[in-house]
Amino acid sequence: MRTRAAVLWEAPGRWEVGEVELDEPRENEVLVQLAASGLCHSDDHFAKGDISVATLPFVGGHEGAGVVEAVGPGVRTLKPGDRIVTSFVPGCGRCRWCASGQQNLCDNGALMLTGSQLDGTFRMHVDGRDVGQGGCVSTFSEWSVMPEASCVKIDDDVPFQVACLVGCGVPTGWGSSVRAAGIVPGDVIIIVGTGGVGMNAVQGARYVGATRVIAVDPVPFKRELAMKMGATDAFADIEPAAELARSITNGQGADAAVVTVGVVTGQHLAQAFAAIRKGGTVVATAAGNQNETGIPVNLLELTMYQKRIQGAIYGMGSPVREIPLMIDLYKRGDLKLDELVTRTYPLEEINQGYEDMHAGLNIRGVVTFN
Ligand SMILES: NC(=O)c1ccc[n+]([C@@H]2O[C@H](COP(=O)([O-])OP(=O)(O)OC[C@H]3O[C@@H](n4cnc5c(N)ncnc54)[C@H](O)[C@@H]3O)[C@@H](O)[C@H]2O)c1
Ligand SMILES: [Zn+2]
Ligand SMILES: [Zn+2]
Repeated sequence: MRTRAAVLWEAPGRWEVGEVELDEPRENEVLVQLAASGLCHSDDHFAKGDISVATLPFVGGHEGAGVVEAVGPGVRTLKPGDRIVTSFVPGCGRCRWCASGQQNLCDNGALMLTGSQLDGTFRMHVDGRDVGQGGCVSTFSEWSVMPEASCVKIDDDVPFQVACLVGCGVPTGWGSSVRAAGIVPGDVIIIVGTGGVGMNAVQGARYVGATRVIAVDPVPFKRELAMKMGATDAFADIEPAAELARSITNGQGADAAVVTVGVVTGQHLAQAFAAIRKGGTVVATAAGNQNETGIPVNLLELTMYQKRIQGAIYGMGSPVREIPLMIDLYKRGDLKLDELVTRTYPLEEINQGYEDMHAGLNIRGVVTFN
């Protein structure tokens, strides 16, 4: 069959909406009709060339929700008509990482950048060329074929445009505070960058009982929304946030600082490092240029203050566990999702959606398919 999809032909480049060939689902794969896809900053890193994908052309999108239309041989957990959210790491369930409860580190995660399906072959093609699929799922497409393991079934009563965010931004941010920073009641935390990911770090920190959640973002409306999502304080840059943290901790500093800016540099992490107390944690969730190395921190301070710099993919949680948990918290009123969707776009306006993200207009832009 053919499907309309947003294709990246070169990097740096722009998304071009056009038709691609889509094969039938093979063993342990499903055909999904997408209903909504979030415009996560990570796909923009591919388009800008900050992070290289191995297979161009490439159909992006990894934060999606839709309906299973058909299943390939061997699929046991899904049937046509099931609503799903995509996981950008198709956890195999059997590798060392999956077996130890770290499905976010599954060896299949490497496919995020190679663009193939689990068997190393491709289901999307254009002009006789293989097309790489983002996170094995390619949610910037009306239809997609993806591994059964990339799909997490959800209830029928969750609107697609909020459900899609639970595929990446929500558990990534929430887990950055709850799992990676290990926030406990009474903690003081700084969240640097309250966009589509960071806003959920704010929510997670507050949910587990941080008494001060200090949001940092240069965009005024994001600071205002952060205050409604659980932040206790908000600043345009990190210095006054760090100063506040010290002033309420007898000079020690924040228990943790989560870095969720759009394009991270070593300098952002160093500033977060300076803001935390002895034994505190910097969580590095944001991505930046793949060739950037080095975090300019004082090595004696790292050692003697026993500080921790913790990288985090998918909020350090297992998506098969976290995705239903996020939906459950939403239904209970403990997690706000509707507020995250600033604007919806038809697929044709995907570049506008990313321009709006860069202009600071959106918490999340979401592509909806009719
Ligand atoms: N580790 C993971 O698993 C994972 C998953 C998803 C996204 N990400 C990455 O997380 C980052 C955030 O993604 P997003 O979709 O929320 O992006 P976004 O663009 O929606 O949000 C970034 C926010 O940072 C703010 N910001 C920019 N510079 C800042 C600064 N110096 N100080 C404070 N705030 C600043 C922006 O105003 C914006 O609100 C991206 O780098 C993305 O690639 C990582
Ligand atoms: Zn993402
Ligand atoms: Zn695995």
